[in-house]
Order: sequence, then C-alpha cells, then structure tokens
Amino acid sequence: MDAGSWPHDEVIPILDFGSQTAQLIARRVREAGALGVLVRPGISAEEIRGMGAKGVILSGGPASVNEGDAPRMDPGVLEMGLPVLAICYGMQEACRVMGSKVVGGASREFGRAKTRIEDASDLLKAIPQDTTVWMSHGDQIADLAGRFDTLASTDTCPHAAVRHKTLPFYGVQFHPEVTHTPHGVHIFQNFLYEVCGCKGTWRMGDYVDVAVARVREMVGDGRVICGLSGGVDSAVCAALIHKAIGDRLVCVFVDNGLLRKNERELVEMTFRDHFALDLRVVRAGERFLGDLAGIAEPQEKRRRIGHRFIEVFKEAAREVDGAAFLAQGTLYPDVIESGHGHAGESANIKLHHNVGGLPEELGFELVEPLRDLFKDEVRKLGLVLGLPEEMVWRHPFPGPGLAVRVVGEVTSEKLAVLRECDAILLDEISSAGLYRKTSQVFAVLLPVQSVGVMGDGRTYESVVALRAVETDDFMTADWARIPFDVLARISNRIINEVRGVNRVVYDISSKPPATIEWE
Ligand code: XMP
Repeated sequence: MDAGSWPHDEVIPILDFGSQTAQLIARRVREAGALGVLVRPGISAEEIRGMGAKGVILSGGPASVNEGDAPRMDPGVLEMGLPVLAICYGMQEACRVMGSKVVGGASREFGRAKTRIEDASDLLKAIPQDTTVWMSHGDQIADLAGRFDTLASTDTCPHAAVRHKTLPFYGVQFHPEVTHTPHGVHIFQNFLYEVCGCKGTWRMGDYVDVAVARVREMVGDGRVICGLSGGVDSAVCAALIHKAIGDRLVCVFVDNGLLRKNERELVEMTFRDHFALDLRVVRAGERFLGDLAGIAEPQEKRRRIGHRFIEVFKEAAREVDGAAFLAQGTLYPDVIESGHGHAGESANIKLHHNVGGLPEELGFELVEPLRDLFKDEVRKLGLVLGLPEEMVWRHPFPGPGLAVRVVGEVTSEKLAVLRECDAILLDEISSAGLYRKTSQVFAVLLPVQSVGVMGDGRTYESVVALRAVETDDFMTADWARIPFDVLARISNRIINEVRGVNRVVYDISSKPPATIEWE
C-alpha cells in the first residue's frame, strides 16, 4: 500500500526497510487496535502528515546503514513531533540521522537474548525486569550521542532499547513483532496507547472501508475483471471489489473439468445468486481434458493446465468491453513466497493459479486489495463482507485441481470416481466436526488395482488414498490423527457407494519428506 488518505483516525504508517517481518509489524499493530499500513521507506514527512498518522514505526531491514546504497528515511519524519518506534535497522538509521555512530561486526547477535529492563515508565511498561527478546542484527548503535536514554540492555547490546531525551522517539534493537519476544505485543500496545494516545478503535471490519476506498481511488470509473477460483482469497477479493464498484466488476470462473463435486454450483450460488454480480462461467473441461490425454508426468500436467488456463481466461477477458484492471487475491504470504515478486520455484506454482503474466499481456493494471493481509485476516474480512462460512473456511485447493490427485493419466471416468470419493470424505469430515480442525483433506485415486471380494465374486478395482493434514503454513505439515471410527465410516461409504473402488488406505506421511499432494 501507499501513502494517501486513509479513512480511519488511528493510522500507523510502517516504513518498510525490507524486513521479512515488516508485514508482521503491521499485523501486530492491527491486532492491538490501530490501522498499521506499510509504506515505502523514503516517504516524506509531508505525506505522513497527509495520512493523518498517529505515530510512525520504522521496520528492520537486511542492509547496513553504513553501506552507501542502504535505504534512507526522510529526516523530517523524526522532527514532526509524531511518536516514532524504530525497530532494528530502523533504529540504526534513525539514530544515525540523529548523530549516533552505528558499528557492525563483533556484536552480531541472532536468536533469543536475555534482556534487563532499566526504565519501564512508558514503552516498556509492565514488562518484567528480566525478559527475553529476539535479536537478529549485525550492526548496533555504539553511542547515545548525548540525545538518548537507555531503557534496556543485553550482555552484547548495551543500548537494546532507547528513548530520545526530548522527542517522542523510541528505538529497539530487537524484534517485538515476532512471537519469540514474549512481551512484544505489550510493547506495541504501550507504544500505541501510552505514547501515541490511540484508543484502539480499529477493527478488522473497518478494513472493508479502507480497502473499498483504496479500490475506488485506484480504479476510478474503470471496469475490473476478477478471476474466481472457488477459493477464499479470490472470493473475498471479488466481494470487496464488488462492494467498491458494483456492476463495473466482472468475474470469470473457469470450469476446467478438474473441480470437486458441486464446486461450480457453489461459486454460482454465492456470486450470481447471492451477490448478484456479473459472473461469466466458462465451461472448458473438454479442452483441458484433451490437453491431458496420455500425460502422466505431474509437472507436464501442471504446465498444460496452466497454459490452457491462460488461453481460456484471455478469451473470456477479451469479451469484457473496456476493462482496464485485473483483480487478484494475492495475500501477503504469497508475496513472501514469491520473494517479493521475484519469481522462484514456489512463485511459479502460485502463478498458474493466479493468472500470472496475464496483466502485462492484456495490458491490464493489477488490483490486489488483499496484498497486505494474512489468511486469517482475509477470512475475517470475508465474513464481514457477507460471504458464507462455507466459502470463508474452505481448505485450499490446488490450481490444477483433481488432475494432480488422479495419479498418472487423467480421464473423465477416473475424475468422476475421485469426485465421489472426495465428496464422501469431506462430508464425513464435516459431520464429525473435523473440517475446521484440519488444514487440508482430500482423496487421491491411485493407479493401482487391487483384489477384493464382493458377495461371492472376486473384484479387481481401484485403490483410493485419503489424505488429511494439519499445518500452519503448508511448508511443513503433519498427518491428522483422524479417529478410527471416522476413518471406518469413510472407508465403508466409499467402498459401498463408489463403483470401481474396493480398497481405501490412509496416508500417514508428514511433510517433509512427503509433500501434501501426491503429485
Ligand atoms: P505440497 O504438495 O507442495 O503442497 O506440499 C503445498 C500446498 O500447495 C498446494 N499446491 C498447489 N497449489 N498449484 C496450486 O495452486 C499447484 O500446482 C499446487 N501444488 C500443490 C497444495 O494443495 C498445498 O496446499
């Protein structure tokens, strides 16, 4: 996000010096009841004033302030009379601007550090005298330049927290935003309430007004196309933009024939019937299946699906007259995963799904109203916007859909079998009250026939694997301990109700070394 006017009176701009945890700072501020927004590090004092800010936070960053090309701040920001909380690199940069020497090398510190609080009157109020903080720095300030008082220190960092003698400026060398700093949340609360005079009036529901205003500002009276995937992110993105610009939003949903049972119907019901928005459903299943004929290699399947998706989406987009914008439900973790937009391996995975490359090709400008949010914040927003719980709490579903869950070659017959198994699995998981306790649950159709008996006859049919995982970030995951009686019910129902399956197995591999999907 950027400077500009913000429709809330407790706004805290966070100057992002490139830290991995800058967005986490914004999140902590929002949790503490003010609107934390990331802004570029060189933002001017004038722009900050224009935002109506109550205080300013400076993030950490990977550079060293002594390098010539290190990111710099407008010194005017420190002289506005607005409270400033400067973290790690931000502290070093601000203290440097105000005359301190910053040194590196010998004092490198990474990890937990025991800290002694020396002054608990404001920023560090109610924090135990001996506490733990998370350090991650090469440099630190070497002197107080006669301007600062020390509030806390560690063995290797004598000025772990400082306060300016006359300005409302605070610097901390450690990272209060990470959970490894157990009292970090209190530091943000102290900064907001004790120092900035905030009242904590910000609620996630207010984000709707903020985001709506930003979308209107960006789009003007233009038209926007939004690709719906059936997942939470694109759904919330569409609902939000619809609220902002009404029928100038056109949504496109590509039915690639690789969807779960009733998935298209759910999207149609939610968006066409409930939100009454302009939804264009493209039924392209046959084209996708045609591309997949004879292909068993997983990455080749993905490549073909991604390619076809772009073709189909382009066709649909060309039919929308005068659209200049393409909306994407990119979340903050997607931005991190793709290394702040520099495409890597994981970025490619997301890109198939998120129509990457399309905006440039079609001359669209991108609208990403969820870019600053974490998943749980997006869910809250979805509920505020009136999306059904069923949609808001959906487990993630891969862009290539069931194609990577039919192991080996994909055919419409195999997809039909898998779709039924998957529906039974999800139905039983939900009735057992386990849907919200698990992160992702699905069935996989294996390219294996096994022998069974049914009545007096011998069968030779397919094997289905069930996969249920628990995870916070999908980078690592553990298999879910689904109770045996629930597994038994699922297995019985699948074998009795789905023709062509005579054996069900449960996948008890964690990630790593296994992945969540089988392909
Ligand atoms: P893995 O299998 O890599 O999956 O442990 C991690 C998460 O990513 C999802 N996934 C994909 N999502 N396109 C997507 O949009 C893909 O090609 C893809 N492959 C895996 C997977 O469902 C899980 O949530």
